[in-house]
Amino acid sequence: MAPSARPPGPRGHLLLGSLREVQREPLGLLRDGFRNHGDVVSFRFGSTRALLLAHPDHIGHVLHDNHRNYDKHNVDYAMLRRLLGDGLLTSDGAFWHRQRRLMAPMFHRQRVAGFCNLMVNSTLEMLERWDALAQSGEPFDIAAEMTRLTLTIVAKALFSADVSDDAEAIGVALTEVNRQLGEFSLLDMFRMIPTPRKRRFRAAVSALDRVVDKIIDQRRHTAHRNQDLLSMLLDAVDEETNKGMTPRQVRDEVLTLLLAGHETTANALAWTWYLLAQNPEAENKLHHEIASVIGERAPNALDLPQLPYTRMVIEESMRLYPPAWAISRNAIGEDEIGGYRVARKTNIIICSFVTHRHPAFWEEPERFDPERFSAERSEGRPNFAYLPFGGGPRICIGNGFAMTEAQLVVATMAQRYRMRLVPRHPVELHPLVTLRPRHGIRMTLHPADADVAAETRDRAAR
Ligand code: HEM
Repeated sequence: MAPSARPPGPRGHLLLGSLREVQREPLGLLRDGFRNHGDVVSFRFGSTRALLLAHPDHIGHVLHDNHRNYDKHNVDYAMLRRLLGDGLLTSDGAFWHRQRRLMAPMFHRQRVAGFCNLMVNSTLEMLERWDALAQSGEPFDIAAEMTRLTLTIVAKALFSADVSDDAEAIGVALTEVNRQLGEFSLLDMFRMIPTPRKRRFRAAVSALDRVVDKIIDQRRHTAHRNQDLLSMLLDAVDEETNKGMTPRQVRDEVLTLLLAGHETTANALAWTWYLLAQNPEAENKLHHEIASVIGERAPNALDLPQLPYTRMVIEESMRLYPPAWAISRNAIGEDEIGGYRVARKTNIIICSFVTHRHPAFWEEPERFDPERFSAERSEGRPNFAYLPFGGGPRICIGNGFAMTEAQLVVATMAQRYRMRLVPRHPVELHPLVTLRPRHGIRMTLHPADADVAAETRDRAAR
């Protein structure tokens, strides 16, 4: 049967299509698109044609089976390139392939296991800072704390750098660029017009550049060479050209890893604490596992396989709130997906937030149920029904790093504390480049051995 011309989708505005809706409420637009039109949904954003793919088979086709027909030369990645240049996340083709091969050994399982102590110790240092918070019962933003922690960890692990003095500046700059990259402005189409928004963007990029320059300069001026990712980038020599990386290339890779390597994991952790605070049964089970496997000593790499429930909690949290909630691709040539013709230059949208709730693959999709990731219940689930780290050759290079880090951070924190949500603080999704909580997540700290059942009863009675 010949492929049909165009999949169903919202008609949108005569000129703008669904541009205003995608600016205002991208998650709602994609979710409604799937609900109303099914697995393949056609959108128009101004003159750009886009297809949302929700079915795992179609996603697997784009990311894996026919990945050579799809690259990152689309409007989303063009915007990200304004910040990250040609780093691993945003580059394509032979250059990307060479850089990925170069960096892959740094992310091998054994190498990541070597970072476990650093991950646990950084968490313990944070917990020391929290002593006063625990005593006073003062509310704090768990999302901001997780961001600071994961930034510290990634900078130390990959670049042997201490960025604690720069954490504030990085946070402010990142919030600005995240907002601007996430909230597309029509004015951006007229590149020559200077606007306050563009000035703010440039200032934020300069602030991030200063941090990266500092990390690289410090290394260039020390005789001591750590065998870390930064050394690998600075010392790499191309076999064909016999040349090293240019300063710009090193900058792009360092900034990419610094940003991609902390913001996502921080969101995963923040949403995990949010979900645990609302699900006392799962929270108790997690605490029980950690107490019986680790007790009071510091966790280490060998504990990880013994903490399956902790892993399932994190996986389920990333199902409901995938930190990288949507990825996209550009169709290089024509293709056919789900019986529809895909024209070249179509923008393909893969929204894990939507696919992770696909009712054909997830029972009661809105329910927090970590055990759906047990071996028995995962059996038969298609590969691309769950894709917090993407898939195919462009799968997240840091996925093992992130899962190890998340498991260790959760275990170390839960040994000491349970977190409670501050009543009436609004927790809202803010889908920018990553899925952030719009107003942060305000919580208070309580001892890990607190009687959750009594507390819950008290709360209900209040
Ligand atoms: C929970 C944490 C994380 C999540 C949810 C996440 C998610 C993702 C996703 C979905 C992609 C694929 C993007 C695409 O196909 O367009 C990706 C790519 C990437 N991630 Fe992560 N990531 C996480 C942690 C990390 C960490 C810890 C690092 C580094 C230390 C990292 C570095 C990268 C890089 C460099 C790429 C580009 C890889 C390539 O194209 O070859 N990520 N990530």
